[in-house]
Amino acid sequence: SLPTHVSIFEVGARDGLQNEKPVTTEDKLTLIEQLADAGIKRIEAGSFVSPKWVPQMADSKDVFTALKPNDLQDQSSIRKAGVVYSALTPNLKGLELALDAGADEVAIFGAASETFSQRNINCSIEESIARFEPVMAMAKARNIPVRGYVSCVLGCPYEGDIAIDEVARVSEILYKMGCYEISLGDTIGVGTPIKARNMVEAVAKLVPVKKLALHFHDTYGQALANIQACLDTGISVIDSSVAGLGGCPYAKGASGNLATEDVVYMLHGMGIETGIDLHKLAKAGHQISQVLGRQNGSKVAQAMPLD
Ligand code: HMG
Ligand code: MG
Repeated sequence: SLPTHVSIFEVGARDGLQNEKPVTTEDKLTLIEQLADAGIKRIEAGSFVSPKWVPQMADSKDVFTALKPNDLQDQSSIRKAGVVYSALTPNLKGLELALDAGADEVAIFGAASETFSQRNINCSIEESIARFEPVMAMAKARNIPVRGYVSCVLGCPYEGDIAIDEVARVSEILYKMGCYEISLGDTIGVGTPIKARNMVEAVAKLVPVKKLALHFHDTYGQALANIQACLDTGISVIDSSVAGLGGCPYAKGASGNLATEDVVYMLHGMGIETGIDLHKLAKAGHQISQVLGRQNGSKVAQAMPLD
């Protein structure tokens, strides 16, 4: 049966902005603040990766510093109570930086494609797992929850089709290492509904379905259909990006992440709660689109009347 509530994990400030032209830290903070005001409870706010690889995320320390809880001396925090602000951390160095900056939660990210792993994090799948071990151990010691991403679950820009067994194998490894949730990434948005559902069902044999999230990019316009095909498997966490922020580095001009407005509109229309104010969310999306000088990537936001 369908879930009654879906938890939206908003990745616009990270997955979105890492693939857009750089914006100021102030513009990122405005976006993050508006997302929280719209009722989003889980916000990926940055990543601690090599600034040479992803210059757009080089100011993540400043972003998280502005999100640190207030103390009596400093009232400058824009943190909203009850919101979890998380960061990507590919290795121990990334985790140390994220902890110093005050991230609530971190994520490690692996892939079900050998070539993608090499191109994205410069090591093989097995090497990445070895790198994640000390990250998990330190995060555990510091009581920081770790999310796990698996990329290329429905296809790879270099290898094409990816075996479902490999997706399930890597997902299970990350779960058994201690990730509290496994986010299944259709990194280049090539999936279609029946394939998406088969993939989720295969992973759910090894990882409890309640511990899975869908992270479907919308490059080929299939993300909503793919999500809909998976909604009655027991999954209730969806990753998306306000205004569909994020391009696709592998396909020039292509759209990027699934727009949060679009999935929220669909879910609400199906009677599924998200706790999100769609109107406020659309305003946040319009503002960051204006900053970037790009068209809003959400069809719902384009169609909605805004006062
Ligand atoms: P490497 O070159 O193999 O690492 O990169 P290294 O340990 O040899 O270090 C090389 C240099 O990077 C050194 O600096 C390190 O200090 C520095 P240098 O001596 O040359 O000046 N370095 C770091 N700096 C800052 N933070 C760090 C860090 N680690 C090393 N954490 C590395 C390995 C993983 C660092 C690199 O490949 C990298 O940063 N890759 C970027 C990966 C990335 O951010 N990809 C996009 C996010 S993943 C994604 O979008 C997919 C997802 O959305 C799901 C989906 O859609 O499928 C999650
Ligand atoms: Mg992604």
